[in-house]
Amino acid sequence: MQSHRSVKEEIKQVADIVQAIGQFVQLKKAGRNFTGLCPFHAEKDPSFNVSPDRQMFHCFGCKKGGDIFAFWMEYHGLTFPEALKDLADRYNVQIPDRFSPSEEKKRSRLRETLLKINESAAQYFQRALTKGGRGNPAADYLKKRGITGDIISEFRLGWAPDSWDGITGYLRRQDTDMERAAKAGLIVNRKGGGYYDRFRGRIMFPIINLRGQVVGFGGRVLDDSLPKYLNTPETPVFHKGEFPYGLNASFRAIREKGTAVIVEGYMDLLALRRHGLDQVVATLGTALTPQHIRRIKGYAREALVVFDSDEAGIEAALRSLPLFLNEGLPARAVVLPEGHDPDSFVNREGLPRFMELLNRASPMFDFFLEQKLSRSGTDIEEKVRVLKEILPALSQLHNEAQRTLYAGRVSERIGIKEEVVLSELNSFRRNRSENTLERNLKGRVGRTETDKKIGDIQLLNLLVHHPGTVEALRDSGCGALISNRTVSKAVAYIFHKQEENGPVSLEGLVGDVEDEDVRIQLREVMLAESIYPEQEVDQAVMEIMEKARQKRLSDSVKEIRDDPEALNDLLLKLRDRNRC
Ligand code: CTP
Ligand code: MN
Repeated sequence: MQSHRSVKEEIKQVADIVQAIGQFVQLKKAGRNFTGLCPFHAEKDPSFNVSPDRQMFHCFGCKKGGDIFAFWMEYHGLTFPEALKDLADRYNVQIPDRFSPSEEKKRSRLRETLLKINESAAQYFQRALTKGGRGNPAADYLKKRGITGDIISEFRLGWAPDSWDGITGYLRRQDTDMERAAKAGLIVNRKGGGYYDRFRGRIMFPIINLRGQVVGFGGRVLDDSLPKYLNTPETPVFHKGEFPYGLNASFRAIREKGTAVIVEGYMDLLALRRHGLDQVVATLGTALTPQHIRRIKGYAREALVVFDSDEAGIEAALRSLPLFLNEGLPARAVVLPEGHDPDSFVNREGLPRFMELLNRASPMFDFFLEQKLSRSGTDIEEKVRVLKEILPALSQLHNEAQRTLYAGRVSERIGIKEEVVLSELNSFRRNRSENTLERNLKGRVGRTETDKKIGDIQLLNLLVHHPGTVEALRDSGCGALISNRTVSKAVAYIFHKQEENGPVSLEGLVGDVEDEDVRIQLREVMLAESIYPEQEVDQAVMEIMEKARQKRLSDSVKEIRDDPEALNDLLLKLRDRNRC
């Protein structure tokens, strides 16, 4: 553990948390801190804060926070030792090989092994694709589909030979732990014992994360046999729907252009890349997930989602609207001409035509409206039903002008009077805001506690932002003034640490606090601005000391009240003191 501490410290000295998190989250300067949309929960307004001074982050929405290691663990789904190792590699810090807690160690060992096996498999598949030159069926197939050598090597495409014992034999010859290879999803347990290749006779598409690691594979047959694509099953390193394919190769272009083009398939992405469109990612056949969007919004200001024109494609587009609204990422819908997917379109028509489609894409919201409206029949029931479907989306628009504009359009299209649409909309919003109001009222009832807490918070804020006050306040017994338990624990913790070690920096300590509420409380105060300017600090300390003194006095009076003898003693003492 000692060794971990020093590696941790060393990394903290060289790494900058704003720069590190800024690779994955778009951050804007706001006062002393940086803010952005939280990558850990759905939100439209930034409550995710990063403090360069304290080298900490904290989300005031979901309460996740901590130092650079906490971010790395949460964002990349790593254990602490894995995050430590990853960051150490990144910042060229030497890491001594000491032990870490065994459960965590086992988990990170397993994942590390699976990634190694995946890497070695990717290399095997890559070699198999180039072997035999022309006449290799996979190479011929890719050529036929217009995939160039550059794309093949950039995306590390490969070929799983049509054999039951290709990768299986290879891994065995490498002395691979075969049970682990099965856990990685590359080979399958045979009923009678032994293993066989999961991917046979398939073009292999490695799925690579932002750290350049192969987390899984997709494999496509060369003909019409089924299933057309086979993917790595869920493994400790691969979770479907979590990571957009190609982001590792595209994120720089996405950041530069500000736009991410989202397509469905491997071949769609590769075809667009081949034609020179770099800012593209693929969802790989699943519907868009909030996780996808959260990753993408770390780089993009807008998403252009390309949908098939068939029923399923349109349905997918409609379902994606609330996701984008929830995540606060503006999106536009691109619908391809019938019978086309991006791959077939760009290969047939060329990139400029594809760009035209992108440029003409309508905002997802307009698209949603148009689709709903075009489906509405003429009878009254139908119209009302469609209106009901549209209201929730309409009411999510922040901008009033926009709401009115769309309401006008809805009215025109379904033939319900504009006043009626608007009044329905308003009553929908009122109902919703009544619910919100109720919540706020409840919040306010809770606030009486918070009101009391304000004194507590001020005290904590003073201690955190002006560490010079800790000693005096500790000796004043001001702990007794605090009514909130969490604050009280946080303050006790600060006092205790100071007593133990002398003046200490909180930054290094807060991660070790066991009580989670206390940790959150400390982070929030650390990331908040200081309440007291320097020139008011002494005054504040004196006020608190005076309050603490009065509290002590009244407490002792309370104690003594029912005890005549003690009362007598006190009076005697007071008389003696007055004499001197
Ligand atoms: N997919 C899958 N399993 C399937 C079919 C599709 O995982 N049985 C995923 C793949 O990631 C595929 C994407 O869904 O890339 C889109 O499917 P589809 O449109 O059928 O395939 P294309 O990408 O068009 O593939 P191709 O052009 O090679 O036929
Ligand atoms: Mn296709």
